[in-house]
Amino acid sequence: MNDNTVWHAHKICRNHREFLNGQRSCLLWFTGLSGSGKSTIAGLVEERLHELGKLTYLLDGDNVRKGMNGDLGFSDADRIENIRRIGEMSRLFVDSGVITLSAFISPFRSERAAVRQLMEEGDFIEVFVDAPLSTCESRDPKGLYKRARNGEIRNFTGIDSPYETPHSPEIRVVNDGSVSPREVTTTVVDYLRERRFI
Ligand code: PPS
Repeated sequence: MNDNTVWHAHKICRNHREFLNGQRSCLLWFTGLSGSGKSTIAGLVEERLHELGKLTYLLDGDNVRKGMNGDLGFSDADRIENIRRIGEMSRLFVDSGVITLSAFISPFRSERAAVRQLMEEGDFIEVFVDAPLSTCESRDPKGLYKRARNGEIRNFTGIDSPYETPHSPEIRVVNDGSVSPREVTTTVVDYLRERRFI
């Protein structure tokens, strides 16, 4: 920890960048179990926004863990640090005037609340991708649930590591197969429209 630093306020700020980008930025925070469809839905929302001419950036669990957070595992402490860093990074992206989509399990309420606190009022939009554990496990797109059940992977979310369901997310989408991904995407895009983000 270095306390000998001073915050430098630069002349060009978020408002200027948003003006040039012709848009308002915000953070869409997708949370849910592994296999719930966070990345898929975030990707579809990003495609829709891109078609609408919006500047976006999608930060995704597996990808960020291959790079910046490659030193972190899946203990509670590492997940907390993972979300702390991603929260800070998301804040910078939003400050750059870009609509930011972050898709992480982010299993703990306290860490999601901490990211919300980092953001300006109204800029944090929590999207709970709600799919039952049984559905996620039957999808098992990466074969990780099977390995977790066999004891080959420890601390697997929903198996031997907790997932704390959001109490009051801005958006809850049920992605149990009863609704098409297209409809789910529309719910998120409509929310942004209604609140004049787009
Ligand atoms: S967290 O909890 O927010 O820090 O996790 P995240 O950074 O989103 O990473 C989740 C992806 O890592 C893979 N993976 C695991 N997930 C959960 N528990 C364990 N033990 C684990 N080991 C590897 C998995 O592919 C997750 O991706 P998604 O897209 O969620 O399935």
